[in-house]
Amino acid sequence: MSVTSRYQQAWEGFWQEAPHEQGAVFWDAEPALTVARHLALFEPHLSDPGLPLVDLGCGNGTQTRFLADRFPRVLGADLSEAALELARAADPEGRAEYRRLDAVEKTGTQALHAELGDANVYLRGVLHQCEADDRQALADGVATVVGERGRALLVEPSEAAGALLRSIAAGPGGPPPKLAPVLRHGIAPGEVADAEVPEFLTAAGLTVLAHGTLPLTTTEYAPDGTRIELPSTWYVTGRAA
Ligand SMILES: C[S@@+](CC[C@H](N)C(=O)[O-])C[C@H]1O[C@@H](n2cnc3c(N)ncnc32)[C@H](O)[C@@H]1O
Repeated sequence: MSVTSRYQQAWEGFWQEAPHEQGAVFWDAEPALTVARHLALFEPHLSDPGLPLVDLGCGNGTQTRFLADRFPRVLGADLSEAALELARAADPEGRAEYRRLDAVEKTGTQALHAELGDANVYLRGVLHQCEADDRQALADGVATVVGERGRALLVEPSEAAGALLRSIAAGPGGPPPKLAPVLRHGIAPGEVADAEVPEFLTAAGLTVLAHGTLPLTTTEYAPDGTRIELPSTWYVTGRAA
């Protein structure tokens, strides 16, 4: 199984039109406000910080580059070639490696595991907008990449984030400028029910080792001038008991 071509085209189209400068994409917040916070939650659970780290669904690589300065080998993987082009252009020194991967496709994640061995995984904002039929396969893909010793940190906007975004988009001024292209390309945020996420992980053979909530910082501002923060839930998971 791999993602539908509609979904793949939605992402390719989004990233082809996305501006290059950091902060121009809705979720492209500064790493200090995003991945740095997640790492503080992730690091105590890593059984081996020396394992390769895969940023699954890395987008334009803003968070990947931060990870690359902190782990020995970091690989950003994404469904979209256009996203990977942005990620490579923003990383001329090649601090991380980037490659195309459909995380829903079993043969792709199995080949990655065969190449890297067990890996740690960072996954931010990928499950909540993928198609309903793909969510279990995505969790299975995470389980394949982590193997026995790797750990994964997933952070996903909660279902309340979907409701919040829909109400912002329906406001008198319509969706704010950075949210508009996301919706125009048919990417629907906050679609996964909160209770389902740990169920997908468990069904993939993973154990939830820790979880909690955090505000997910965006780069967009509400009409009252405050920065839009989405309620989000994070999970640290792995095969360990
Ligand atoms: C909301 S963006 C988040 C990007 C990045 N994780 C970040 O935090 O900046 C979701 C990303 O997941 C990618 N993606 C969606 N489905 C995927 C799949 N099945 N396999 C790999 N990447 C996927 C999209 O192309 C997009 O770049």
